[in-house]
Amino acid sequence: MNRPSFPVTRVLVTGAAGFIGSSVVDRLLADGHEVVGFDNFSTGQEEFVRDAVRHPRFRLVRGDTLRLNELTEAMAGVGLVFHLAANADVRFGLNHPEKDLHQNTIATFNVLEAMRANGVPRIAFSSTGSVYGESAVIPTPENAPFPVQTSLYGASKVAGECLIQAYCEGYKLEGYIFRFVSILGERYTHGHVFDFCRQLLENPRNLRVLGNGKQRKSYLYVQDCVDAMFHAIGNGAALEEPHRVSICNLGTREYCEVLNSVGWICEELSLSPSIELTGGERGWTGDNPFIFLDTAKISGLGWEPKLSIEEGVKTTVRWLLANRWVFEKRG
Ligand SMILES: NC(=O)c1ccc[n+]([C@@H]2O[C@H](COP(=O)([O-])OP(=O)(O)OC[C@H]3O[C@@H](n4cnc5c(N)ncnc54)[C@H](O)[C@@H]3O)[C@@H](O)[C@H]2O)c1
Repeated sequence: MNRPSFPVTRVLVTGAAGFIGSSVVDRLLADGHEVVGFDNFSTGQEEFVRDAVRHPRFRLVRGDTLRLNELTEAMAGVGLVFHLAANADVRFGLNHPEKDLHQNTIATFNVLEAMRANGVPRIAFSSTGSVYGESAVIPTPENAPFPVQTSLYGASKVAGECLIQAYCEGYKLEGYIFRFVSILGERYTHGHVFDFCRQLLENPRNLRVLGNGKQRKSYLYVQDCVDAMFHAIGNGAALEEPHRVSICNLGTREYCEVLNSVGWICEELSLSPSIELTGGERGWTGDNPFIFLDTAKISGLGWEPKLSIEEGVKTTVRWLLANRWVFEKRG
C-alpha cells in the first residue's frame, strides 16, 4: 500500500469506469481509501474496473448523475467526491447542444445537491483548459481575464465550476477545481492519438489531420494528472484560498505541434504515411489553435510531471496497440 496523500476516508468517484476516473480509483485503493465507483458506462469500460471490482474496499454503483436519488444514496458516509463523469468530447458538442448542459452542468449540480444532502465536505472536479477559450495570455494562468467561450463543452464546464464555487461559499465546502490540458496514457479512449492510431491501423499509407497540423497543444500523462490532484488535495490547497476553492491548471511546461505528435505516433508504429491536412488554423469549431497553461501554481505546491509530452504520446500508442479492443468499443 502507498503512503496516502490525504487522510484515509470513503471517496465517491463519478466516472469511475472512465479513462481518468478508473486511474483515480486504482490510486485511491492503493492509498488505503474505501471507494464507491459511480458510473453509467456510457463511455466507461468494464475492463478498466476489472481489478477494482475484486477489491474488498471497492463498491461499484451503476448509476446516472442525472438521477439525483441514485447519487444521494451512493454518497452516504463519503468524505470526498471526485467528480469526473462528463461528456468529455469537445468536438461533437454542436451535434447535440443539450448534451454538455445535461452531462456537465446539471450533473454537477446534482453531485453538489447529493453532497449537501449527505454532508459531504470536499469535492475535486475535472475541469478543462477549454474554459480559457482562445486566451490572449499564453501560457495561460488561472487568473487570466475570462474569455469568450468557443465550445459548448467549455461553457458547460465554466458553469459547473461556478456552481461548485457558489456551493463552497454558501455551504462551507472545500473545492478543488482542476483545469486539465488533454490527458494521455493507459486506458486512453478518445482524442487525437486514438483517432490517428485508428486511421493508421485501418490504412497505414494515409493519415488525415484536421487543420493545418500547426495547432500547438499541451498534453499531460494520466498518472501525472492523478498525482497532481492528490498532491493538491493532500496539501490542503483549497484551505489556503480565501473562498476555500483551489483552482489549479494541470499540464506540463511544454507544448508541441500536432505534426510533432504525428511524427512520434508514426515512429512508434514504424510507419511513414502520406499526411493529408484539411487546412485552416482550427481543425473544427471550438478547436483552440494554441493551448498552453501556466502551471506555476501547482509547481509552487511542489509537484512536477514525470513524463514529457513525447513520452506520454508514445506510451499511449503502445497501450493502444496492446489493447486494440478499445477501437471496437469506442470506434
Ligand atoms: N481526457 C482529457 O483529455 C480531459 C481533458 C480535460 C478534462 N477532462 C475531464 O476529465 C473527466 C474524465 O474524462 P475522461 O477522459 O476520463 O472521459 P471518459 O469518457 O473516459 O470518462 C467519463 C466517465 O463518466 C461516465 N459517465 C458519463 N456520463 C455519466 C452519467 N450521466 N452518469 C454516470 N456516469 C457517467 C462514463 O461512462 C465514463 O466512464 C471529464 O470530466 C472530462 O471532461 C478530460
